[in-house]
Formats: sequence, C-alpha cells, structure tokens
Amino acid sequence: MKVLAVASEAYPLIKTGGLADAVGALPKALAAQGVQVTTLLPQYRAVGAAFAKGRVVLDLPDLFGRPARILESPGAPGMMALDAPHLFDRPGGPYAAPGGGEWGDTAIRFAALGRAGALLAQAMRADVLHAHDWQAGLAPAYLRFAPRRIPCLFTIHNMAYQGKFPAAVFPALGLPDAAFAREGLEYYGAIGFLKAGLWFADAINTVSPSYAEEILTPEGGMGLDGLLRGRAGDLHGILNGLDVTDWDPARDAALAATFSADDPAPRAANKAALQARFGLAVDAAAPLFAFVGRLAWQKGADLLLEAAPVLMQGGAQLALLGSGDAPLEHACRGFAAAHEGRAGAFIGFDEGLARLAYGGADMLVVPSRFEPCGLAQLAALRYGAVPVVARTGGLADTVIDASPMALAAACATGIQVAAGRADALAAGFRRALALYRDAPTWRGMQGRGMATDVSWGPSAARYAAVLERLASRHG
Ligand code: GLC
Repeated sequence: MKVLAVASEAYPLIKTGGLADAVGALPKALAAQGVQVTTLLPQYRAVGAAFAKGRVVLDLPDLFGRPARILESPGAPGMMALDAPHLFDRPGGPYAAPGGGEWGDTAIRFAALGRAGALLAQAMRADVLHAHDWQAGLAPAYLRFAPRRIPCLFTIHNMAYQGKFPAAVFPALGLPDAAFAREGLEYYGAIGFLKAGLWFADAINTVSPSYAEEILTPEGGMGLDGLLRGRAGDLHGILNGLDVTDWDPARDAALAATFSADDPAPRAANKAALQARFGLAVDAAAPLFAFVGRLAWQKGADLLLEAAPVLMQGGAQLALLGSGDAPLEHACRGFAAAHEGRAGAFIGFDEGLARLAYGGADMLVVPSRFEPCGLAQLAALRYGAVPVVARTGGLADTVIDASPMALAAACATGIQVAAGRADALAAGFRRALALYRDAPTWRGMQGRGMATDVSWGPSAARYAAVLERLASRHG
C-alpha cells in the first residue's frame, strides 16, 4: 500500500515541535507493516540543501500564480519537497518571519501545500493521503473535488492550532463555491483549515485515546467538538511512540554516560553532568526534578513555578529547559536566580541537553493543561526519569500513577496529578519526594518505566489497520 503523507514539518529535516517527531518516525514503523509512506513537505529555505540534487517528480506550472515543482532526492529518503520559492524560500522558521510574527500570506502558503499534496496523490496513484494538522487541512478538500477518488486520513496533533483565516481568502483558493459552507470549510463565518481537514477526511485520528475523548467535549474541542461528535464513528485515538533506535540510552551520544534498564547505575554520571550544566550543587542524594518543553500556557510551566517552592523546601533541585513566551522565560530565570545552586534555567532549545535531562534527572515534570500525546514523558520513561504528569491526554495514557493500589500491585511508573492546578501539582511533588526517599519502591518504579514499551510498534499496527480499511473501502 502506498501512502502520501502531507505535513508542515518532519524530523530530521525540519522541526519546531512534537509534530515533526511523529511525522518523521511513523513511516519507519509503518514500513515494517508493509505500508510505504512518502512524506511531502514545503521546501523551506532550511530544507533546500537536502534537495539540492533533487529530481523533479511533478511540475506544477501554476501554483498560486507561479510555477512550482515537487522534488525527491537521495539526500532525503522517503521525503518529497514542494519547491515553490515564491511561498517558502524565505528566512525565518516554517511559520514565522524572522523576529516573530506570521507571514501575511500564511493561508496561501499552506493552501499550496494542500493543493500540491492532492495533485501529487493523484499523479502517484496513492492508495491513501494522510494529512497532519491544519497546515495540511486543505489537502482532503482539494482531493474531494479532484478527478480520482483517493481516501484521506486526517491526524490531529493539537486542536488548539486551527488555521482560521478571513472569508475573503476563499476566492483565491480555487475551490468550488459549494465548498464555502457549513458542510465544508466555512468555520464561524471564516475559513478553517483544520475544520476543512476534519470535514473532508474519510477518517480522523488523534494521538492518544484520552485526547480522542477530550476533543468531543466543548472544553477540549475548542469549537470543533460538535463536528467531531457527528463523526465519532470515524474517529480513532492512536498513541504516538518513540523512535527507540534514535532514543536509546544505551547508545545516546548526548549522554555523559550510557546505560540500560538492566544497568541504570551509570545514570549517576548524567545526573552530575546535568547538575553542573544547570549550575546546581553536584549532589547525588538531592532529588533532581527537570522540566523540558515549550514555555507556553499549554505546557503549564507557570503552574510548575507556582508549586516549585514545595520542591525547594523538600531539599530538591530543579532544572528548567525551554523557550517560548517572554513572561514565562523571565519567570524561569527569576526563579533560578532566587534559588542559586538549587534551581537552574536554560532558556533555549537544545536537543542534547534535553536528552541529558531525561537521562540524568530523577523526575521529569510534565504539568500540561492539555497534551494530545506528549513526547517528553515517553523519553523520560525510557531514560529512567520518573514522570510526574498532569492527568490529561496522552500523559494520562502512558504513565501509571503510584496510587496505593498500583504500588501494591507493583505496576506504577510515575505520578499523575489533576491537570491545570498548582495545588494538585504541589501535592504530587510531596508524594514524589516521599517515594524518592523509599529507595526500593523508587527503583521499582524507575525500572518498570524503563521496561515500558514506548515504541511505535503497537501503534503502527493500528495505523496500518485504519489505512488498509480506508484503502479497501474506496479501492
Ligand atoms: C503536538 C502536541 C503533542 C503531541 C505532538 C505529536 O505537538 O501538542 O502533545 O505529542 O503534537 O503528535
């Protein structure tokens, strides 16, 4: 079976968040299921080098006013790039101009991605088109009005990003007038790219079973819960995994010392290295908590800072790693400055340092207000940092709370707290500190976490089943 995936980012070519990890890793896992995935990305300036010796797969003489091409290259196996310089050959990140702020033609840039995806799917006779997030949301719309019927799967990585644009953009999209309707891409009087994807796709999934339920509620659905409830029969929740060959503590070059579930003792060297990097007292006995993530409301770093005095009073240390909203960056720096030697902040994105945190911290805190899946807690489990997580979305699905029952049954792998509440997080910290002092129980949790299967294996099989069903329904 041939699948064309369409997305705005994919690791290792271009990454701003977890979307790239999922889009990058799923094809490898699906290959083992006999599903062959090609992924179409925009050729941003940063992606150009990988396609410099590219071969033209498809010419698009007029893609929103200028010629464009789709390229493949030996330098980027499994990938294709939409070479449309008028839209993508620009400085800055995939979405933002240098210095922040969106480009004025964002709607057209990603409409072009969707349109190119639909045309490519036709040309290569794909069995299924797999669109990821709002940036690929128009691919199913264009495909619906294309000559050859190709079924679509749409994957929601985050409902909070909806790709909403003024209705005035509609005529430029080149879709039939009938598409601007409630039964189409009209969304509260405007145009919704995510709405379009959800409406026109033949099946929908999101990245964890719990999030698949949460988005059916007004709170989690953020305006689209009604549509999703109407499509509940076509909606699946399939957990993301980790690429466990890339994320392997026995071979990870970013660690100060490699280790495995059978022999976690070398983690001590990573803990010492992490303490040194964050300006913390190098102290093997101090419980070391870490946070790794975007400093954004969703991720709850503000809740963490509100609850963090409990950690300081309990003799623990805190390493904060991330970047994002300026007030949160400021607050993290401030907390670190006020607790010298006990708390440290690194403002920025540093994948190697993140890996050292997973492989050296005693606990990883993931206090998200909502979390469709989450990657950090999976890495933490595999790298032996016991996760302290908010009970929401994929966090709820991947960490087993150390309740009295779970401790008695020896199945706990971490700590869950109610989402969105600093007091609940503080109580979770107290529980974590008490468990840390009980060394045998602690080692049991850590060992079970490291032995947990966080790979893509089981989920790839579920994706394959959904894709096969789609392909045969329309074949
Ligand atoms: C988004 C979500 C995150 C998920 C990732 C990959 O970044 O916020 O929870 O893990 O997509 O699906």
